[in-house]
Amino acid sequence: MAVYAHITGWGMSIPEKILTNHDISQIVDTNDEWIRTRTGIEQRRIASNTQTTASLATEAALKALRMANLHPSKVDLIIVSTSSPEHIFPATACIVQDQIGAVNAGAFDLSAACTGFIYALNMAAQAIRSGSLQNVLVIGSETLSRIVNWEDRNTCILFGDGAGAFVIQASERPGGILSAVMRSDGSGGELLTLPGGGSKYPTTRESITNGMHYIHMNGREVFRFATRVMAQATEEVMESSHLRKEEIDLIIPHQANYRIIESAARNLKLPLNKFMINLSKYGNTSTASIPVATCEAIQEGRLKEGDNVIFVGFGAGLTWGSLAVNWTGPFETKPEVHVWNYSNWARTRSFVRRLRRRIEGMIWGRNGDG
Ligand code: COA
Repeated sequence: MAVYAHITGWGMSIPEKILTNHDISQIVDTNDEWIRTRTGIEQRRIASNTQTTASLATEAALKALRMANLHPSKVDLIIVSTSSPEHIFPATACIVQDQIGAVNAGAFDLSAACTGFIYALNMAAQAIRSGSLQNVLVIGSETLSRIVNWEDRNTCILFGDGAGAFVIQASERPGGILSAVMRSDGSGGELLTLPGGGSKYPTTRESITNGMHYIHMNGREVFRFATRVMAQATEEVMESSHLRKEEIDLIIPHQANYRIIESAARNLKLPLNKFMINLSKYGNTSTASIPVATCEAIQEGRLKEGDNVIFVGFGAGLTWGSLAVNWTGPFETKPEVHVWNYSNWARTRSFVRRLRRRIEGMIWGRNGDG
């Protein structure tokens, strides 16, 4: 019997703090009119001192699990797609695993920049269809405000913080994730990069002086690349999922720039109202932009069970991709799972495990042989 991968839960987490274009014009030489007309962005959200990529991811994940009515202990795998992980290692996904109490889950981060959520969804779907996993949590989370140079008007106007999460579940019922396209072109890597802090350019005084710990971007070239691949990837996934243009109910593109989405719509000969666009409120939240836009499309009644939706994105790497879905919604399950209560228990469990490790370390000493 064939197994299908369905999206059964979704959730988002957006910081409260709003930074408007006017606010940014107090920091760098720019203005609201320039940002609005070149990008469509009006404001973005900025994480507070207590919010991190993992904390936003955890909140989005718990909301998605709540929606799917799935107990965290039933999650088999957590994939966090991010370009602003908490650390090089451990993976941000492991921090989320601990916080939500997903005691039976594997966890890893996926680095494919703004295309990451599409890559991660496709990996989850493949694992489910192969029969090896039942329930996968896919999260896109970013705190880009921490890696943006607030003195560089070319980049700091574009980005924002946020997270979105989907629960993907196995079922014999046809539908769900239909097909995907994943592409890359490493020859364009230097067009959008955070060069420092890795093994090639470890953090030194010099790397910091040269601003290598910030995002660097060639905006014009990225723009040209994006307008080229968006329509192409959408058409490719329509073909591989055997969907005709008339059968597409909604396209949810990566929210980078209004003009890029306009150009994709023009190239596809589709009206702009077929596209979900919310970038004016959040800016470019990289890999979080597609799940956040999906949550809002559902809230606004623009995406319903049975609809055919296409996700399409592009980003650093260079990477781009698309994914076609026959939208499902939550499976009918009982009894109600108390995800939030359980996560409080998970935090206590985490504390106890840390404490036990410390006590054991003191008792057994350095050699572990007592
Ligand atoms: N405010 C005011 N002026 C600005 C500015 C800002 N924030 N940023 C750049 N400018 C200036 C430039 O210095 C340039 O001035 P010059 O002509 O005197 O040299 C002028 O505006 C035009 O710059 P340009 O880079 O050609 O603008 P653009 O129309 O290409 O728009 C972007 C710039 C960044 C908005 C656009 O290229 C873009 O969106 N690219 C894609 C970026 C992206 O999506 N990245 C994320 C990918 S996931």
